[in-house]
Amino acid sequence: MSFSRPPDFAKVKIAPSILAADFANFGAECRAIEAQGADWVHVDVMDGHFVPNLTFGPAMCAALRPHIKGVMDVHLMISPVDAYVEAFAKAGANFISAHLEAGPHVHRTLQAIRGLRCKAGLAINPGTGIEAVPYLLDDVDMICVMTVNPGFGGQKLIASQMDKIRALRAMIGDRPIHIEIDGGVTVDNAAALVAAGADVLVAGSSVFKGGSADNPAPYGQNIRALRQAAEG
Ligand code: DX5
Ligand code: ZN
Repeated sequence: MSFSRPPDFAKVKIAPSILAADFANFGAECRAIEAQGADWVHVDVMDGHFVPNLTFGPAMCAALRPHIKGVMDVHLMISPVDAYVEAFAKAGANFISAHLEAGPHVHRTLQAIRGLRCKAGLAINPGTGIEAVPYLLDDVDMICVMTVNPGFGGQKLIASQMDKIRALRAMIGDRPIHIEIDGGVTVDNAAALVAAGADVLVAGSSVFKGGSADNPAPYGQNIRALRQAAEG
């Protein structure tokens, strides 16, 4: 399938997920991945209710902000979500993604995110259809396709989501909306994901493997390998 992208969307962005970083050393980990070539920093917020895991909240995002020069991409796996959006905006998020499944009023949530001068992302679980998306296209800056069931890093990409990515790409047309892929991204599937229409690849385990904040060179190798695979 061929499709055109607006110029700003032509370059693939690699967004390491700090879910795979050293939780006792987040500031240094964020500095290390950016120094090693990460485009965005993906921050996974989990509430132990919407997903069966807990991470951290807006105070952690605010603490991370001075350690991130570029884009802080906050993925909210929480429900309810509306009451917390402002706190993440104040914490310095550039993108805030909320789940389609997080509540009955996702349109309101997206409007609230934009109202706080953040870019609005719509995250969609693997088992959820995309029938609602045409009615939300004027209100989103990014669609985050979950290619694993959210809650944990290190899972395998669910192959059925490739068709969903292609369908979303066709639906979006030439609108300036990113397609972000989250879960199970590796050098083996990056090219197919981009060919299907993605322009942002979140990667946790495949970026952080083999390195540390004190030994960040493997992060750079992993990011370059992903980028090279993604760009064919
Ligand atoms: C899953 C998270 C992802 C995850 C990606 O709930 O939203 O961001 O950490 O990790 P990998 O790349 O290891 O699948
Ligand atoms: Zn995520």
